[in-house]
Amino acid sequence: MTRRVRLIGIGSGHPDQVTVEAVRALNSVDYFIVSDKALGVGGLNEAREEICRQHIDGDWRFVKVDDAKRDRTDPSDYGKAVTDWHEARTIIYEKALIDNPGDAGFLVWGDPAFYDSSIRIIERILARGNVEFDYDVIPGISSLQVLAARHKIVLHGIGEPFTVTTGRRLAEAVEAGHDNIVVMLNGTFAAQSLLEKGQGGDWDIWWGTNLGTKDEILVSGNLAEVTEKILAERSEVKEKAGWVMDIYLLKRRR
Ligand SMILES: C[S@@+](CC[C@H](N)C(=O)[O-])C[C@H]1O[C@@H](n2cnc3c(N)ncnc32)[C@H](O)[C@@H]1O
Repeated sequence: MTRRVRLIGIGSGHPDQVTVEAVRALNSVDYFIVSDKALGVGGLNEAREEICRQHIDGDWRFVKVDDAKRDRTDPSDYGKAVTDWHEARTIIYEKALIDNPGDAGFLVWGDPAFYDSSIRIIERILARGNVEFDYDVIPGISSLQVLAARHKIVLHGIGEPFTVTTGRRLAEAVEAGHDNIVVMLNGTFAAQSLLEKGQGGDWDIWWGTNLGTKDEILVSGNLAEVTEKILAERSEVKEKAGWVMDIYLLKRRR
């Protein structure tokens, strides 16, 4: 039988938010390939370990690999920096698969379909033809869903579309006239720029950080009124948990 690689969406931090399909998949592989970058973030790694502890029967094995370094020196060429980084990761993961026979799992944070490179990297490994396997993708509960559930909101008005983008591209989505914008991958709090342009009053925000963990914090309200609180909570959680991952919905007032 051909060996199998499984990309397992493990949810966004809480062990109860792992699907039955993911639990079966976690128990079906011989080892997990985990990058040292993922392991380096203390609290994040604890959340991942807890998911394994609660859902895997018996022991599990992590094959640790070095994470490729991403070139952040030229912010104008983001696309190329990410492509180079994917290529470097491809070679590292390919070697781990060649060196370690058996079925391999990847613990993918949230859902593999949102801002995650695992599927692209696995496709690249297959295209290189140096190692053979079948692979499958197990969906996970995304931070997008946890945000909506915690705030008890629908991400859009009745029949409206919603846009999911990154902090880096928020301004573009606002200029394009989108009304319901979910923002992920926030190196900084990009919505602050709307406030600086005097547009804070035009937007309501539902913000959440470290969702599903003991450090989870939620803030909602008019952007102009709650930005200071969000900035303060962001720094506080970073200090306390050692990591901050936040996501928010911006809704334009009409
Ligand atoms: C590399 S992306 C991965 C997204 C993931 N695949 C998902 O479905 O949520 C990481 C971004 O997801 C969001 N995120 C992931 N987990 C989160 C959490 N527990 N709390 C808040 N935001 C989270 C943040 O915007 C973070 O910058």
